Amino acid sequence: MKKERSSFTGKLGFVLAAAGSAVGLGNLWRFPYLAAQHGGGIFLLVYLILSVTFGFSLMVAEIAIGRKTGLSAIGAFNKLNKKCTFIGYLAAVIPALILPYYSVIGGWVIKYLTVFLSVNVAEASREGYFDNFIGNTGQSLLFFAIFISLTAIVVLFGVEKGVENVSKVMMPVLVVLSIGIAAFVCISNGIQGKWEGLSYYLKPDFSHFSIMTVVSAMGQLFYSMSLAMGIMITYGSYMKKEVSLESSAHQIEFFDMGIAFLAGLMIVPSVVSYSGIEGLNKGPGLMFDTLPKVFNDMGAVTGNIVGAVFFVLVLFAALTSSISLMETVVSIIQDKFHIERKITCLIVLGGAFAIGLPSALGFGVWSEVAPLGMDILTFFDFLTNSVLMPIVAILTCLTVCYVIKPKTVIEEVSVSGRFKLAWLFKVMIYIAPVLLLIILVFAIFEAFGITFGGLLKF
Ligand code: PHE
Repeated sequence: MKKERSSFTGKLGFVLAAAGSAVGLGNLWRFPYLAAQHGGGIFLLVYLILSVTFGFSLMVAEIAIGRKTGLSAIGAFNKLNKKCTFIGYLAAVIPALILPYYSVIGGWVIKYLTVFLSVNVAEASREGYFDNFIGNTGQSLLFFAIFISLTAIVVLFGVEKGVENVSKVMMPVLVVLSIGIAAFVCISNGIQGKWEGLSYYLKPDFSHFSIMTVVSAMGQLFYSMSLAMGIMITYGSYMKKEVSLESSAHQIEFFDMGIAFLAGLMIVPSVVSYSGIEGLNKGPGLMFDTLPKVFNDMGAVTGNIVGAVFFVLVLFAALTSSISLMETVVSIIQDKFHIERKITCLIVLGGAFAIGLPSALGFGVWSEVAPLGMDILTFFDFLTNSVLMPIVAILTCLTVCYVIKPKTVIEEVSVSGRFKLAWLFKVMIYIAPVLLLIILVFAIFEAFGITFGGLLKF
């Protein structure tokens, strides 16, 4: 590492920084559309259970590995055992693949911000507005380029701290505003007697359960909590020994889950009330299609103001995440090839733009290109979340179980106080690889069109 390893000032510093990386488009954009697609309430329930068992255990393991070794992913795995170094490399590939398409969606956020700033809520709420926008080559490339350049500028000038500080203020505002918007949705649905959407989102209905509910909830868990890609290891390496690792993990988890839940509450019931149950399958465009309609219902003036404020906040949440993605890629390349930081940033910017290009064009001129029947953005999303991350997670669990042994992690956690859920951790870390392997196999079969239609359906 070129930079000296600094450490977070205290628990709050650690939790806020890790939450800054964790809370982002994963919660606001990805969670609602997956929840809509994969069963609503049952998805929520499965996600919650996975999050407090498996997500918690993997997060504790990663932070502990980072804090124990004082190194980021590649160095950390190497220090644990030379033979494990490849896991660090594999983990490092993931942020490099996520950053490009993450920035495409970041671009969509900027586009919508400009729409609300130019008082166009009525237009944006029209059917087909979003599809028109993403189908337009010039527009989608322009906003993608703006978002990724913004991220690069922050990383290039090393002003991450500045953005983090701003977002520390923005984040609580985002929570408050999300509660307000979610309340608006619930109340207006209630007044109109439209309970179908709310009940779809909040009431677990086992008839909607399928193996894909678990597959997608698991992928979402990695993505949203920034797990299985070495990021929490890096954050852990900056964590002081006296800070409670266990309660920090709980807090990040709680924060992350809370924001995702609220985002779902804003979006899922609304889709049902505007477009009926068929609208639930809209996929990646769901948030952008639905929210303008919600804002439009608030009236022209309020709608534009709330929309603009909301998208500014989302932009900051997205930026703190994309910065942590780019920072990870930059520091890995820098460590490995000893290239100057500024040049590295430019290389990563160029590379990410090139890799992101197909994702940006995949809804328009390249819509014919459909790897495994998916649009290109969804393909990258699938590759990282449903294939690579489970592999890295399996390998991380195996390293903990058979190379360093769970007691090493438990000892590290215990440095900062008794590890209350050590029993849960010990059970999960052994069960997880098996569960993950099953999920991985199902995900791959599904992608190749071998569906398990009736399997595991109640
Ligand atoms: N967790 C972030 C989100 O929910 C995405 C992300 C993944 C950020 C990996 C950093 C690293 O949006």
